[in-house]
Amino acid sequence: MRIYDIILKKRDGKVLSHEEIQFFIDGITRGTIEDYQAAALLMAIYLRGMDEDETLFLTKAMMHSGQIVDLSRIQGIKVDKHSTGGVGDTTSLVLAPLVASLGIKFAKMSGRGLGHTGGTIDKLEAIEGFKTSLSVEEFIDHVNRHAIALMGQTRNIAPADKVLYGLRDVTATVDNISLIASSIMSKKLAAGSDAIVLDVKVGSGAFLKTYEDALALSRMMVNIGEGMGRRTMAVISEMAQPLGEAIGNGIEVVEAVEVLKNRGPEDLRELTLTLGANLTLMAGRADSYEAAYALLEEQLTSGQALEKFRTFVEIQGGSPDFIEDYTLLPQAAHVVAVYPPKAGYIKAIASNEVGIASLILGAGRETLEDKIDFAAGIRLKKKIGDRVDKEEPMAVFYTNQEDKIEEARERFLGAFEISDEATPRPVLVKAVVSKEGVKKL
Ligand code: URA
Ligand code: CA
Repeated sequence: MRIYDIILKKRDGKVLSHEEIQFFIDGITRGTIEDYQAAALLMAIYLRGMDEDETLFLTKAMMHSGQIVDLSRIQGIKVDKHSTGGVGDTTSLVLAPLVASLGIKFAKMSGRGLGHTGGTIDKLEAIEGFKTSLSVEEFIDHVNRHAIALMGQTRNIAPADKVLYGLRDVTATVDNISLIASSIMSKKLAAGSDAIVLDVKVGSGAFLKTYEDALALSRMMVNIGEGMGRRTMAVISEMAQPLGEAIGNGIEVVEAVEVLKNRGPEDLRELTLTLGANLTLMAGRADSYEAAYALLEEQLTSGQALEKFRTFVEIQGGSPDFIEDYTLLPQAAHVVAVYPPKAGYIKAIASNEVGIASLILGAGRETLEDKIDFAAGIRLKKKIGDRVDKEEPMAVFYTNQEDKIEEARERFLGAFEISDEATPRPVLVKAVVSKEGVKKL
């Protein structure tokens, strides 16, 4: 078999055989295919598409390109969550202890953030002592004892995806539904959980800009997951603006704790409860979506979810004292109010630009070697539909780099469209996709 012939075949719009897909993924994993040929095939796939069978087989081949985590020593149904990537998306920090407080096993492997979206691991490392480099044995032990654990994704999960993702990133071939679905699902399937909820973001801050594309991706991932014997559901959620108020690491931890204290931003609470209700249903712990949702709300009001979070921090080596005193988290030397350029209603927010502004303040990294400033970030005081005027701050910047404030302010203010007319608040949760079909919300 020759990679040249596979490129030619896909270039001409034909369907690739399982053997051809396997040859490609083996070559990528072993490094025997040149980057330029791999990139050419990715572009052919991008332009010509893949059908469902090709996508499913591509996912399987990528999943088996590395380690398959064996979680069979964990008793009961193991659940996991994945987001296609959002700005200020604090949901995992709330979701994991919330669901685990019902005794549902939340075994999460997570990656680090790159670019304008932050990773859950980076956020938790804002907590003094918090350790994410567990061995698989420790990870399993924690989940068995406390129903919750988080570890950094081991290097050897779906290595073919690492190579392909790196090439896609520099060849304008990221936003193809078959390539996104196989990339996400290969990693989730290799990580070994039984039930997966996917948060598929749509809107200005997401890869996918239209509802139709988000729906197609959701259906594809649900089919792949269910086809591989895992319960899989997808929630399509709006990313027209950052989630919650905080975009940063330490300040997102605070925001998560606020929701766990039954306070905090309404949108973050709603999305977390929606994702959690689907996991609770798939874990067989409730008879209906409504019952699952109510059960989780009760975990917030009773303080059980917060208690589980405290345990979670402790077992991962962190000091939980910040839960009562947020000043124990890293603090920024500069706290700056940001005012709108004019009065009116916020009509639109380019979320990715807000993410980049937060990164400029120090909250993110552009390369994997960059150091994160855990104290840095942006707190949004106004969101879509809110009225702003020139005397009232619309946001607060936190940073330790005074010389970055002006650059971040320019980037941040450029992200906002302010109009004279009132604008409705966007609907957050748009639909839930399962093997039964699509439920519009
Ligand atoms: N997240 C992934 O892991 N892969 C993609 O292709 C897109 C988002
Ligand atoms: Ca947030």
